[in-house]
Amino acid sequence: MNKSQALLALQAHKLSVETRHLKQMFENDPKRFEKFSITNGGITLDYSKNRTSDTTIRLLLALAEEAGLKHKIEDMFIGCTVNTTENRPVLHTALRQRSNSSIEVEGKDIIPEISEALAKMEQFCDDVHSGKLRGFKGKPFTDILCLGIGGSFLGPKIVVQALKQYRRKNPKLHFVANVDGCHLYDVLSELNVETTLVVVASKSFATEETMLNARTTRNWLLESGLKESELNQHIVAISSNIKLATEFGVEPDNIFPMWDWVGGRYSLWSAIGLPIALAIGFDNFEQLLLGASEMDEHFRHAPLEQNMPVIMALLGVWNINLWGSTSHCIIPYCHYLRGLPAHIQQLDMESNGKSVTKDGQQLDYLTGPAIWGSEGVNSQHAFFQQIHQSNIVYPVDFIIPLRVNNSFQEHQDMLVSHCFAQSQALMQGKTVDEAYQELIDSGMDEKQSRELAPHKSMEGNKPNNVIMLEELSPKNMGALLALYEHKVVAQGIIWNINSFDQWGVELGKQLSKPVYQCISEGLVSDGFDCSTQSLIEKYMKK
Ligand code: F6P
Repeated sequence: MNKSQALLALQAHKLSVETRHLKQMFENDPKRFEKFSITNGGITLDYSKNRTSDTTIRLLLALAEEAGLKHKIEDMFIGCTVNTTENRPVLHTALRQRSNSSIEVEGKDIIPEISEALAKMEQFCDDVHSGKLRGFKGKPFTDILCLGIGGSFLGPKIVVQALKQYRRKNPKLHFVANVDGCHLYDVLSELNVETTLVVVASKSFATEETMLNARTTRNWLLESGLKESELNQHIVAISSNIKLATEFGVEPDNIFPMWDWVGGRYSLWSAIGLPIALAIGFDNFEQLLLGASEMDEHFRHAPLEQNMPVIMALLGVWNINLWGSTSHCIIPYCHYLRGLPAHIQQLDMESNGKSVTKDGQQLDYLTGPAIWGSEGVNSQHAFFQQIHQSNIVYPVDFIIPLRVNNSFQEHQDMLVSHCFAQSQALMQGKTVDEAYQELIDSGMDEKQSRELAPHKSMEGNKPNNVIMLEELSPKNMGALLALYEHKVVAQGIIWNINSFDQWGVELGKQLSKPVYQCISEGLVSDGFDCSTQSLIEKYMKK
């Protein structure tokens, strides 16, 4: 990207944008919203409050063209090996494809096996919901314990949380990811073994944390009265590693498939989403897939200038590579979406937190930002002070469903008002003169007003997007999640990085083995650096 003509043009163009304030841009152009917003399905993106002009967008689109974005998006959809370091295609989009057009991986059409997996999920959900599937004492399942971590956990958890209003009364879902025994202990203590079904979700079936949680849970089942031969009535697995899942004791019939061509953080659309289907019903799970698939069509076919994920990606590049932003804040104004920042954090940071190009060359430009955020309005009363007044610029995405299904309309009106007002405040700010005048108007004397005004002023000109969902339905949720997936993919293409591997997490896993061996076997070893050695010794003397 650093040799890009479009980037050079953007750098020169930025000098002229820097002299203009967003407030002024709005005053000069009453059609700014119309020009800088996109609606697709049930989602509208208002990106008018970014430090951009028509020229900025034109140059950003030129950058996308230079990167061959359109062509590379298509490469992903048709199954080219875009995950080059793992030598795999990336086909989470095939999981939600609504047509039967074939997609081949190594010469084999994968659509029939996707349909088969969906049919197996549907049947399983029906059998659990109808009570046909029962525990070892013949009782229907009331609780599902989901074990898994990272992509095999977060997506399903936050979707189940987000779609609370679509959740069935039974069964109740419990997610345990962390290897911290406190969590598993707390959850198991509240469960009745006779009515609990365990879902072990692990693509590799080798992730230490998940496997320890699975072993402890299996022991809990056995200690609570199950015979070995009855375990299969209570445990199912989702994995691409049939061998390890079978060795663990899950019968092949109880194993739902996963494939190499689905990355963990992109996998909630596969059988990894089984907990979602169990929670909201298979029909609603299909709506989730439909929403994502409509966003896929939009990403694949809409012209770049009207392409929601592409525009979000380009605005990110503008903020990061031209203005130096290193973080991006996600604020959902919806209690049910409170888990979304964590999911987008994993999706974005595990994908685009990279320092070499696809060819292994060191990058000399920034890539994925740190993603952070939490639920609005709570965050306004916590960290928004810094966003409004510090000298660090934090681009923000405000996300809000407009219609909600609760009887407190006044609450929704206030929530929406705060969301829109925060977006406006970040854009327009307040000058020292305006602050001074307000203080005078409130009756304060001139001296005090002059002293206080600088503290009350804020620069504004802070970039932000507002993403509105007509309502928080399974379909719109699917589209929203796919929107962020594609934003991440588009940015990865522009930065020429591999958004689908995650080698950075391996070293910690590797180094934890000898540390764990020392600790669990009570061995003293001098093979560590003095800090690690001392930490181990301190722990062992506890
Ligand atoms: O540690 C990162 C990671 O490999 C993620 O990419 C993945 O989603 C998670 O661990 C869990 O992996 P698995 O599904 O194989 O247990």
